[in-house]
Amino acid sequence: MSITAIKGFNDILPTESDRWQYIEQAARRVFELNGFSEIRVPVMEKTELFCRSIGDATDIVEKEMYTFTDKGENSVTLRPEGTAGVMRAFIEHKLYALDPVAKLYYLGPMFRYERPQKGRYRQFHQIGAEITGVNSPLADAQVLNMLVHFFREIGLDEPSLQINSLGCPDCRPAYRAALVAFLEERLGSLCEDCRRRFTTNPLRVLDCKVPGCIEATVGAPSVLDHLCGGCAEHFAGVRGYLDSTATPYSINHRMVRGLDYYTRTTFELVTGLLGSQSAVAAGGRYDGLISQLGGPAIPGIGFAIGFERVALLLGDKDFSRQPDLFIATMGAGERDFAFRLMHDLLNAGVRVEMEYEGKSLKSQMRRADKLGARYSVVIGGNEVASGKAAIKRMKDGEQIEVPLKSEDIRNMLA
Ligand code: HAM
Repeated sequence: MSITAIKGFNDILPTESDRWQYIEQAARRVFELNGFSEIRVPVMEKTELFCRSIGDATDIVEKEMYTFTDKGENSVTLRPEGTAGVMRAFIEHKLYALDPVAKLYYLGPMFRYERPQKGRYRQFHQIGAEITGVNSPLADAQVLNMLVHFFREIGLDEPSLQINSLGCPDCRPAYRAALVAFLEERLGSLCEDCRRRFTTNPLRVLDCKVPGCIEATVGAPSVLDHLCGGCAEHFAGVRGYLDSTATPYSINHRMVRGLDYYTRTTFELVTGLLGSQSAVAAGGRYDGLISQLGGPAIPGIGFAIGFERVALLLGDKDFSRQPDLFIATMGAGERDFAFRLMHDLLNAGVRVEMEYEGKSLKSQMRRADKLGARYSVVIGGNEVASGKAAIKRMKDGEQIEVPLKSEDIRNMLA
């Protein structure tokens, strides 16, 4: 029996990778415009890093990590997300000594042992961005505007921005107590997972998708009513800056996020087009994370975009790159000529294809059509002798005679 890929791990085939590159290039363009630089960190880290940052009582750490013992008896984990590793590197290389304000972006595979379904995989890819060292809500608003800009750049305006504030270590305990008191009276209606969460991580009950839990928590206290003065002012600041740039958003006070490092602002870009996997991007502020990982008290905020979900949202649009020119040839001698011409054209930056084997002219033209070439040219003895050929525009058959020189052809195709 032939060997297949691991469940939940996907191959990105050439047709699909054109779409991925389109997404990736748009992200790089928008992030770099905003002053972000790429950081590349390992896909595997010490397990302890994720326990300390994401939190021991989260679904990710409790149930979803690919953790194993390596040959040196060390517990290692395939990264389930990017923020922890990036902040580990930020601290380890003392990037803050240069400038505490760092704008970093990253992309690559992440791993979570979840139940695979459309839009949810065990190896998935994120494009993330993080900004450190800014307490001002201006950073929150810039990061959010950058995220919205990215979606506009790739032609998607459907995902809508939802924001919330989860408060800080000063005000969250009071909210947690109010929520626990509310949930205590409804414990019987909660699912088994939520009864466990009730003691380990009660805020996560608000995120449960089980209909009974959703119903039981209607009317739960809102975290926004429990923010301390500083957190309320910060949240008002974020909203004010978003309003000032006419960035549309709604407030979702039930958004709690699945990672423990968040403080204050959290957000998601949500779509109605992908069923239950509705978050295409998400993030928030993590003012305590860097110090929690042994670094200085430097705040941070960022997000990660789910590559696969964005690719799904782009639908059937064709992102393949068609050749500018297809060179068809009449015989072996002309093929040698065409090969040299192709070489010159490629070096001049023209996307060219030619027929490699001695196929009939008809089959060569079928291939030009199949590849979606914009123009084609047939090179026979006359063309080689005269050094000129008629280049045909495929969409309407119009022909223009051009010298068979890379410069002339390139100018004609431009
Ligand atoms: P997250 O909400 O866990 O946040 O993931 C961010 C995005 O990754 C999700 O909105 C979703 O689009 C995508 N995603 C997550 N799990 C899967 C999966 N199993 N299959 C496909 N796509 C998935 C984080 O990871 C944080 N590190 C974001 C962040 C950065 N917060 C601050 N900075």
